[in-house]
Amino acid sequence: MKLAISLAALAACASATAIETKYFPGCSRRHCLTQRMADKFVSRFIGVLEHKETDLGNFTETMEIMLADDFQEISDSINSLAGIPLGSVTTGSKEEYIQETQNAPPDSNIETIFTAVAACRNIIWHWNFPTVGSAQYPVKGMNYFELNENCQIDTMRIEFNSIAWGADTGFTTTPPSGPPPGTTSNSTTS
Ligand SMILES: *[C@@H]1O[C@H](CO)[C@@H](O)[C@H](O)[C@H]1NC(C)=O
Ligand SMILES: *[C@@H]1O[C@H](CO)[C@@H](O)[C@H](O)[C@H]1NC(C)=O
Repeated sequence: MKLAISLAALAACASATAIETKYFPGCSRRHCLTQRMADKFVSRFIGVLEHKETDLGNFTETMEIMLADDFQEISDSINSLAGIPLGSVTTGSKEEYIQETQNAPPDSNIETIFTAVAACRNIIWHWNFPTVGSAQYPVKGMNYFELNENCQIDTMRIEFNSIAWGADTGFTTTPPSGPPPGTTSNSTTS
């Protein structure tokens, strides 16, 4: 039992070193991510969403390196569109995410509004997808990447303007009667 554990630990350690060297030269347990690393990370992630080659290889190779083995995606914005109960994990495994992303049409014209390092090892990426579906509405949102000690994505939280995404992709919505929310109404109901 004890031997098995230490062998497993050793194996984990060896693979961690391999990933570190190949993936992110500056990634270290002792130091926080730098802005430059966060920018590099986001440019690779955009490459994946656009189904392009990155400096890590083709789509599959890049995904295999960037996602941790216990990867999960959490997004009520996606759950709302996909009919998944709110609060559920959206995508529960690395392989599932790779498959889904590969089967989805490539995104295009992705714009970065800003990228920031948060809590030392996490990354906030504020984005705009101007050409979703019919491109009637631009879709803005944010990804929050929680990275493990190899700077791979453990958890990816995403929230975005799902009503704009829905309208661009053929959902129909009917606003409630009365003025749009957030505008000043002339009539005050008594
Ligand atoms: C990526 O490259 C690997 C190794 O050459 C290959 O097995 C795989 O099919 C490629 N994946 C894609 C999506 O092109
Ligand atoms: C609100 O008030 C303005 C100014 O009196 C008027 O021009 C406008 O038509 C009103 N809008 C509605 C929805 O009643």
